[in-house]
Amino acid sequence: MRASILLLPGDGIGPEVVTAARGVLDVVAAHYRHEFVLSEAPIGGAALRAGLDALPAATLKAAQAADAVLLGAVGDPAFDREPAHRRPEAALLAIRRELGLYANLRPATVWPGLESAGPLKPEILAGTDMLVVRELTGGLYYGEPRGTAADGSEAHNTMRYSRHEVERIARVAFDAARGRKKHVTSVDKANVLEVSRLWRAVVNEVARDYPDVMLDHQYVDACAMKIALAPSSFDVILAENMFGDILSDEAGAVVGSLGLLPSASLGDGPGLFEPVHGSAPDIAGRDIANPVGAILSAAMLLRHALKLEEEAASVERAVTAALSSGIRTRDLSSAATAHSCSAVAREIANSIAAINRPALT
Ligand code: IPM
Ligand code: MN
Repeated sequence: MRASILLLPGDGIGPEVVTAARGVLDVVAAHYRHEFVLSEAPIGGAALRAGLDALPAATLKAAQAADAVLLGAVGDPAFDREPAHRRPEAALLAIRRELGLYANLRPATVWPGLESAGPLKPEILAGTDMLVVRELTGGLYYGEPRGTAADGSEAHNTMRYSRHEVERIARVAFDAARGRKKHVTSVDKANVLEVSRLWRAVVNEVARDYPDVMLDHQYVDACAMKIALAPSSFDVILAENMFGDILSDEAGAVVGSLGLLPSASLGDGPGLFEPVHGSAPDIAGRDIANPVGAILSAAMLLRHALKLEEEAASVERAVTAALSSGIRTRDLSSAATAHSCSAVAREIANSIAAINRPALT
């Protein structure tokens, strides 16, 4: 197939991990005889540094015209003191909103060979395979009114959800659960927040259409604890925007490294695929970042945006092969045995052709 993929390398380690993922996409294209037309555009701090807006109009236009978008990371401490709209993060929030990407899927699983890589005992981590379904275009991130008093004495944000917003993300979670262990845990703070009580009520209504899926509700604080104590008890975790942001970082830590986690942001237009980790400015440019989150994001792009299931699975098999044979960046191994970002990417790319059955032509 022919598909146009827009790459948005962004800031910090973003360019390194996008280069890694690009190498994998090139190998998939060659092996399965697809034509991926890859182009690049600036976003975030990289755009601001070039004198452009954080989300340049041309970048948004290119994203709208693409079949899928692969993003590295945004975030640059040089802009820490700037007003909200002049920060790299503003670009990410804007592109999510402009593309209508309300559903963010963040899978976190224990990878073969990494059972002891994280802070948990391997017997606690065993069997962990969760999917955080994070609402991505509502809640505190976008709620109005928001602002800071002119004299700086106070500031406010608004957590706001409509029934419609809750219903559509709940359906994403229940549909996902049907292809998994048929268990949704909906996260809220309904003992305190009105928004959470609406959330819970709407999720219960949606659940009636999915009698085959088990639903439970957890308060976000209890859920955070349970992810650390019993991560394998979860299947699909359904959460509003900020709760999902926080819990997905925790899920990354639990399975060994946030650098492993991919994500897919889906909505009405082209999907956006990005690793869950940030721009990590402290390790940028040193070829030591973990490229797996970005490479698995490319696999999610193949699966969700291009409907290339076999190709996506082949990337995931190659990641499994690399990780289980000890090929890892230093977030997952001692400095002495660590591989570079580009070496891990090369290994994964090479094994795609090697371990897969020949492509049907
Ligand atoms: C993420 C990031 C972003 C978010 C930031 C960079 C705006 O933390 O994708 O999880 O909070 O959504
Ligand atoms: Mn985050």
